[in-house]
Amino acid sequence: MTTLLITGGAGFIGSNLVRHVIETTSWNVVVLDALTYAGNLRNLEGLETSGRLSFVHGSIADESCVESVLADFNPDAIVNCAAETHVDRSIRSARPFVDTNVAGTTSILEIARRNNVGRFVQVSTDEVYGSLELTDRPFRSNDSLKPSSAYAASKAAADLMVLADVTTHGTNAVITRCSNNYGPYQFPEKLIPLMTLNALEGRPLPVYGNGKNVRDWIHVRDHCRGILAALEKGERGGVYIFGGSEERTNLEVVERIIALTNAPASLMEFVADRPGHDLRYAIDNSEALVSLDWKPHTSFHDGLRETVEWYRTHLAWAQDVRDGSYRSYYEQHYGRTLQ
Ligand code: NAD
Ligand code: DAU
Repeated sequence: MTTLLITGGAGFIGSNLVRHVIETTSWNVVVLDALTYAGNLRNLEGLETSGRLSFVHGSIADESCVESVLADFNPDAIVNCAAETHVDRSIRSARPFVDTNVAGTTSILEIARRNNVGRFVQVSTDEVYGSLELTDRPFRSNDSLKPSSAYAASKAAADLMVLADVTTHGTNAVITRCSNNYGPYQFPEKLIPLMTLNALEGRPLPVYGNGKNVRDWIHVRDHCRGILAALEKGERGGVYIFGGSEERTNLEVVERIIALTNAPASLMEFVADRPGHDLRYAIDNSEALVSLDWKPHTSFHDGLRETVEWYRTHLAWAQDVRDGSYRSYYEQHYGRTLQ
């Protein structure tokens, strides 16, 4: 491997992956990112000095742009992190999710095949499996797909397009499906950065429903290690699932953030539930241990402490990424103005 193309590399997981690849390999990295509200060049700050990072502003759904990136950089592999990713936004408007997650993925996959790119990694999500009951066993990779939200449905559709390409054309693609990530550079619409910044800035902490929904939290570093393991060791057409083995209710997460930030507990507010809110996600990590020799390294206890500290020391980053469109989204969704 000499050159890796990471789409969505200016977003949360993409930028952490770029950083991880630059720090742990000698590969050149090309980022293709449309810089939507969730993508920000500040997420790649400091990496330009490596001399191994190139950035192209463009969409995975723009065929001529993708063709020219492949012609200019001739990547050995593509990791597709580009996506619309927020469930609440997909409830308000599903169309951008179809355009990028389904049509965009299908388009870049076909162009990659035509240009003989050696490997394609589709970064997907455990949400394609739908919701677990509290007593169900954790997800396994070959569980049936039962997505609840438009976001999850669009990711499931993309996964099926990837698998169809493998079956029909023999494309050398793999799929990863991970549980909820947290860590630095996560856009403050997702639970952990939203609650952390609100707690640090003295704003209400809006918990959906009764707060008893469960997520399996994984540090983004561990997810990046999993993506690289799937890239390097995964079998053609393989589906690899990763989780943190750290199931927590949302209430437990918010209470821990309150403790770590010394915020008053009175900031917590129960608000209307998310429509179609999945009760629980959890991952059985034993498959990834056997097939990829992968397991998570960071405990939620240490990882959350480190993450809260990162946000505390990066309030200027948070100010920068919360642009005007974020403010109007926040006002529409939570019904109050973000100070
Ligand atoms: P994010 O929203 O933080 O970043 C998405 C990035 O994709 C942004 O930089 C955005 O500008 C870019 N993008 C959007 N549309 C694009 C397009 N048409 N062309 C090029 N770039 C485009 O998302 P994230 O949390 O980093 O998620 C990355 C991937 O990981 C997604 O595929 C998501 O489904 C998956 N995933 C996320 C999680 C999680 O907990 N965040 C867990 C499992 C899987
Ligand atoms: O499981 C992987 C998925 O995790 C990824 O594929 C998605 O891209 C990512 O957004 C995430 O989806 P969730 O919907 O689980 O994450 P979110 O951070 O939006 O919400 C986590 C939980 O917290 C969920 O039960 C809803 C709840 N929540 C969220 C927000 C934003 C609240 O109670 N209040 C909030 O304000």
